[in-house]
Amino acid sequence: MRTQVGIVGAGPAGLLLAEILHRHGVESVVVERQSREHVLSRIRAGVLEPTTVDVLRENGLAGRLDREGHVHDGVRIVWAGREGFLIDIHRHCGKRFVAYGQTNLQEDLFAAADRRGAAIITEAADVRLEGTSMVWKNGRVDCDFIAGCDGFHGVSRSSIPAKGEYEKVYPFGWLGILSETPPLREIAYCHSPRGFALASQRSPMLSRYYIQVPLDTRIEDWPDERFWKEIKARFPREWADAIVTGPSIEKSIAPLRSYVAEPMSHGRLFLAGDAAHIVPPTGAKGLNLAVSDVYYLARELAEHYRTGSMALLDAYSETALRRVWAAVRVSWYLTTLLHRFPDASPFDQRAQEYELEYLESSERAQAALAEQYAGLPL
Ligand code: APR
Ligand code: PHB
Repeated sequence: MRTQVGIVGAGPAGLLLAEILHRHGVESVVVERQSREHVLSRIRAGVLEPTTVDVLRENGLAGRLDREGHVHDGVRIVWAGREGFLIDIHRHCGKRFVAYGQTNLQEDLFAAADRRGAAIITEAADVRLEGTSMVWKNGRVDCDFIAGCDGFHGVSRSSIPAKGEYEKVYPFGWLGILSETPPLREIAYCHSPRGFALASQRSPMLSRYYIQVPLDTRIEDWPDERFWKEIKARFPREWADAIVTGPSIEKSIAPLRSYVAEPMSHGRLFLAGDAAHIVPPTGAKGLNLAVSDVYYLARELAEHYRTGSMALLDAYSETALRRVWAAVRVSWYLTTLLHRFPDASPFDQRAQEYELEYLESSERAQAALAEQYAGLPL
């Protein structure tokens, strides 16, 4: 088999790239290691930046998102038992973001791919790259270019020799649950002496909550009652009272990490999304970065097929990394601001409290954070 662009991985990065390329008349084949059911069962974050929504809309992928997504003006930060303050993105930046689960977006992307009869090969075992060919247990596709959209544990990144790797591993994880209960009105990030907590949402009857936990935490030790008791102990009283509890329908633990590989390309191989970088979920940038990488890469591949020029493609890594580092930085900032670090000295704790005080009292600090939470323009 032969195609123009070989795409490794059918996560949001891989499937969105295939869609945008198709709209530019560029053909691709997607090769995915897991089954479609497996890919669709993963519960991930659910906050879409305005630019992400624009990209999806421009490519005809926002039908359900526009109907079902919940539009927000800002996010709340609560701490020290007080009601907290709103990072008002609409007031500071004139933009709004949308709460819409990555799982839904993944469904929308598969639906779009099915409508056009796209080439997506799932359950491909032992995928590897041989130059610009994708080779797996019983198949092979020869390509002009490879897009490595195979996530953090994929194979593509190892084909980039002599890369710089920048990493920070945090000494905690997030225990998350999904429950069929009405969510809080706002998305609320909570700093407390017992650790960080987050109240988020998927729909009017589906809530997503997280608490910071030590890395050695076992899910079995966290029955629902214990989870609800702990999250209510972290949130200030009036917020805790507003949390509607119920049985969880999903529960999982994710460790927190920041990671960037540079450059994001080598010859005719280009990495996009989690294959090239990981951000901690504080700030919900992971999916948004996958979308911005893909936006640049699709534009540059389309330009290449139109003009024969490699100039834009050669600049891909540099272009994408500017936005990547902006998101990596704000995700690290929010993680550092809002979590309880087990090894924090009394000095560290005081500095953290006064950073929160400053953010609460300064319109300008809030405006700077609002701009970054909303996401930079493409
Ligand atoms: N061969 C083929 N497919 C692979 C391989 C491989 N060797 N290794 C991994 N994959 C697949 C995975 O099974 C997965 O479906 O690549 C896909 C990568 O998808 P994601 O991990 O969702 O990554 P990405 O598309 O970059 O999306 C980024 O997802 O992880 C979240 O928080 C992250 O929201 C962000 C978004
Ligand atoms: C989520 O809804 O899952 C979510 C929201 C905001 C975050 C992280 C995750 O920062």
